[in-house]
Amino acid sequence: MTILENVTRSFTNHFNRLPGFISKAPGRVNLIGEHTDYNDGFVLPAAIDFFTLVATSEREDDLIQVIALDYAGQTDEFSVNAGFDAHPTQMWSNYIRAVVRTLVDRGHQLKGCNLVVSGNVPQGAGLSSSASLEVAIAQAILTVAGIQIPATELALIGQAAENNYVGCACGIMDQLVSASGKKGHALLIDCRSLEATPIIMPPQLSIVIINSGVERGLVDSEYNLRRQQCAEAAKFFNQSVLRDVTKEQFLAAAHELPDVVRKRAKHVIEENERTVEAAKALATNNVALLSQLMAESHVSMRDLFEITTPEIDYLVAALDKELGSDGGVRMTGGGFGGCIVALMPKQKLSAVASTLVDYQLKTGLIATPFICTPEQGASLVAVES
Ligand code: GLA
Repeated sequence: MTILENVTRSFTNHFNRLPGFISKAPGRVNLIGEHTDYNDGFVLPAAIDFFTLVATSEREDDLIQVIALDYAGQTDEFSVNAGFDAHPTQMWSNYIRAVVRTLVDRGHQLKGCNLVVSGNVPQGAGLSSSASLEVAIAQAILTVAGIQIPATELALIGQAAENNYVGCACGIMDQLVSASGKKGHALLIDCRSLEATPIIMPPQLSIVIINSGVERGLVDSEYNLRRQQCAEAAKFFNQSVLRDVTKEQFLAAAHELPDVVRKRAKHVIEENERTVEAAKALATNNVALLSQLMAESHVSMRDLFEITTPEIDYLVAALDKELGSDGGVRMTGGGFGGCIVALMPKQKLSAVASTLVDYQLKTGLIATPFICTPEQGASLVAVES
């Protein structure tokens, strides 16, 4: 049974009627531009063919009733106008409560609704399962209330929910690409203006995501620490974000910065340049340049931003050796475990299998590969009876 059939069937069994519609929002993979979004910089992600679905229909009262199929059918129920109260045990509930509360904060008049949620974005792997949940839920609840908003606003709601209520100080990348991804394309996003330029993916390149099997640890505390260090660096240059510090200004004064802060700033300033260059390389099918930029990005995450792990470094180095200049590979997402992403021609796909066997022998970890396609962002799916 597909996830679509499953949410539709479960909804019908539970609520004795077909859902009115299904809200869908994808996860994402970031090709390059890591930890640049909250510095008002550039990112180059693509929405992928892993997604969250929310079967939805209106209710007569003001309650939101939710069933989470991926959590053994756990449920939650609260008034659309209730304040935010963290759920004592169900973390998934907090994302939904946070989105509803954020919509109310922004002055939207909401209606009660029934929701059945399920998805296939691997959780805790750095592929934005939470952003896809936030965007799918916001879209579902707004649609029930008859409210239409632009994709950027949908993304800002997801980010605000996470920042203000869930407690993660994330940037805008994940929610924005989940809300506005374009089929067959990556998006070059300027995280200051939120302008997203679609870049067509060369058809001969496959996007291969490999879950390293390294559990992501210390993510929130280390993530928030990186944000503080970037802010400290920007402040040194009398700016509020590193986007406004040029390479020349940085180089002229870098020696005055504390070592750690200098390394963080160097990563962000150079990663912004690499990301813009990588978008051009992708658009012109310059795979050798992409390969080089992705390799530099990984080294910078490893040595300057210090967010990789030894196992992931090993995996990236082993695959990089196989691909040479025919493809690129780097860790993707916030770091401290999770996934790597590789862009490679189809004839190199066999290299992945041998690399993973070698990786398991070396680290004892089982890595899982997925071949992904770039997909459109959030959408409504009609219900078939
Ligand atoms: C997480 C955050 C994003 C971004 C990345 C790192 O995915 O949610 O906003 O900062 O890490 O690039």
